[in-house]
Amino acid sequence: MEIRTVAVVGAGTMGNGIAHVFAKSGYSVTLCDVEDRFLQRALETVRKNLEREASKGKINAADKDAALARIRTTTDRESLGSVDFVIEAATEKFEIKAQLFRDLDRICPPEIILATNTSSISITKLAALTKRPQQVIGMHFFNPVPVMKLVEVIRGLATSQEAFERVRELAVRLEKTPVEVNDYPGFVSNRVLMPLLNEAMYAVMEGVATPEAVDEVFKLGMAHPMGPLTLADFIGLDVCLDIMRVLESGLGDPKYRPCPLLVKMVDAGWMGRKSGQGFYKY
Ligand code: 3HC
Repeated sequence: MEIRTVAVVGAGTMGNGIAHVFAKSGYSVTLCDVEDRFLQRALETVRKNLEREASKGKINAADKDAALARIRTTTDRESLGSVDFVIEAATEKFEIKAQLFRDLDRICPPEIILATNTSSISITKLAALTKRPQQVIGMHFFNPVPVMKLVEVIRGLATSQEAFERVRELAVRLEKTPVEVNDYPGFVSNRVLMPLLNEAMYAVMEGVATPEAVDEVFKLGMAHPMGPLTLADFIGLDVCLDIMRVLESGLGDPKYRPCPLLVKMVDAGWMGRKSGQGFYKY
């Protein structure tokens, strides 16, 4: 069966980016979230980002309008039973994703692949909640989704070779570069990136340098497009903390403990760019 229609569950930063790239590549997209205001905000973001691409000549006006018209929205999860492929990009909390996978498994025909954009939660554990563990897989995009080329394609313990090949092919159709990864906490990307960001936070907490100075070191010394503290604010400090906790509990090594400054900032509601305050003010 050819994949033509796609459901993206979760309309936050990653969900709207994922809907954007599928719609731009010609897929009919149903974007699903729990409240209509999240869906309207997501559509507005997709529209702005498509316009930005049009203004740079990366897409023409007709294709931009057609892409936007391919995205429909719904708050009714039960209506997702007729799509050819589902990718979940909901909040990075195990219980929320677990309930979603149980529901999607009940709602969607058994041959449909259920993918997750999780940044660190176990694919194997989510798969085990369904009656189709061979059809459950990680498809991990990077922010900003329309720009970043990478998709980590993550095999759970039970993921079939066929599901893996189909998702790899799908990533190529979206003009992304798939990289094959096995299911361990944080996969490759966040297992390596998050301890770097966490260590940069320790450097700030211990007074080794200011956030600006730490970021300059990485931009000028290592040619990173963003320094680690700007990147942490961009990803969201709450997301960084959630991922550090998954690494700490999943790998059982104290070297993954979250920096106390990160914990304190999240406790204060300082989530980075999205809340207006993180290591920098926005
Ligand atoms: N949609 C569409 N296009 C976008 C965009 C968006 N949301 N955001 C930026 N762009 C485009 C711009 O139009 C511009 O296009 P051009 O090259 O044709 O002019 C290009 O991207 C670069 O953008 P800007 O000129 O506005 O700004 P920068 O040059 O500073 O680049 C950046 C912005 C691409 C975000 C760059 O700073 C960067 O690559 N940062 C690192 C991002 C990163 O590491 N992401 C991964 C985070 S980890 C993650 O997502 C995993 C998760 O599990 C935590």
